[in-house]
Amino acid sequence: MAEVTFDYQNLVEVEGGLRSDELDEARPRLREAAEELLESSPGFMRLPKTGEYAEVSARVAEEIRGSGATDFIHIGIGGSALGPMALQKALNHPYYNALPREARRGPRIHFAENTDPATLAAILDVADPTGTWVNVVTKSGSTAETMSNFLVIRGFLIDAMGRFGYQGRTLATTDPEEGFLEEIADREDLTVLPIPKNVGGRFSVLSPVGLLPAAVVGLDVEAFLAGAAQCVDEVNEQRAEHPAVVGAAMHYLMDTARGRNIRVMMTYADALERLAAWFVQLWAESLGKDGKGSTPHGAVGTTDQHSQVQLYMEGPQDKVIEIVEIQDHPRDLAIPEAYEDLEGVGYLGGHTMAELLNVECDATRKALTEVGRPNSTIKLGAVSEENLGYLFQALEVQTAVAGSLYGVNAFNQPGVEAGKQITYKRMGRPGY
Ligand code: PA5
Repeated sequence: MAEVTFDYQNLVEVEGGLRSDELDEARPRLREAAEELLESSPGFMRLPKTGEYAEVSARVAEEIRGSGATDFIHIGIGGSALGPMALQKALNHPYYNALPREARRGPRIHFAENTDPATLAAILDVADPTGTWVNVVTKSGSTAETMSNFLVIRGFLIDAMGRFGYQGRTLATTDPEEGFLEEIADREDLTVLPIPKNVGGRFSVLSPVGLLPAAVVGLDVEAFLAGAAQCVDEVNEQRAEHPAVVGAAMHYLMDTARGRNIRVMMTYADALERLAAWFVQLWAESLGKDGKGSTPHGAVGTTDQHSQVQLYMEGPQDKVIEIVEIQDHPRDLAIPEAYEDLEGVGYLGGHTMAELLNVECDATRKALTEVGRPNSTIKLGAVSEENLGYLFQALEVQTAVAGSLYGVNAFNQPGVEAGKQITYKRMGRPGY
């Protein structure tokens, strides 16, 4: 069973927190929003129980692993990259690619996301072209960043292995029925992994978009899906009472009734840094419409205690801090006893690093609360596939429900089109 809890007490009990009458008033709309979500049954709610995506991802991953692959390059951007990156960062060894082959559960993994040539060139510096597999991930099939990365990497593979070698090692994760990538896959006989039509990029981590790269490096995809499925079941049972759904109302009210239009996700574990980056995109791109939405921001504890907490404590009253806390860290180290005569150092000996991290997490929460700075906590029992599956799903539910409360369509992103059109024109795409 996934162990993920949401605690909103410090959004209510702090000075200036939400009052019970405000929450009562919001409840009917919240109920409506939850019912709307469950009735419309959007694609992302069905992913955890769609066995075929896990099967195809496991089968293709097995082929890659069985081929003795040295490198796996995931090409994609936005919703086609952030979820997979978050999963890798959370569950792999922090220096995974630098580990010797026998200590890794799969090939090295690289993400070609931005169009920055320095990053792409660096990937090509380290990847062994004769052992590289490539997965091009784009739902639309024509995102300029993704397709340009693909064209460069395709050339790299063809140079090293010829066309036949390139074709055998390249996968297309895309809409299986339409789009330019689907057409290329058809022409070049590339293996296709489907992104379901009714699932948008930022809601797609539980589709082959996230499942394949996870399976390639040996993560437990079944447990990831089981955690997400548990969340779906609980939302179905608890509806507007489910804590992720309640959180939609809390954050919505903090923004619209209290003017706290910045939502900081502060993860007390380096492993969850990219989870916050994934969430930032989910919340921003889903809700920032029609002059509405709150600004998400990622921070890491304890690191950002020495960077941003001053602002959170004494800066403008425009933020809600959401702490993500881990109960059992995957590893721990004892702090050796030394310098007992130096009172500013000696006290640390005999404790552990995880203990210090969690004490600092709690101290930040208490300090924020004492000065009337609203904060909430998401607590994970451990950083595990199951808990992450639950959390990804819960935050997607929360975002979709928040979309209804704001009265915006959480599933589109019309605001990103204008820049794309200008780019197409400047780069000479026909018709622009
Ligand atoms: O969430 C979204 O829909 C977007 O962030 C897309 O994922 C992103 O723009 C990339 O699109 P595509 O997968 O079509 O290349």
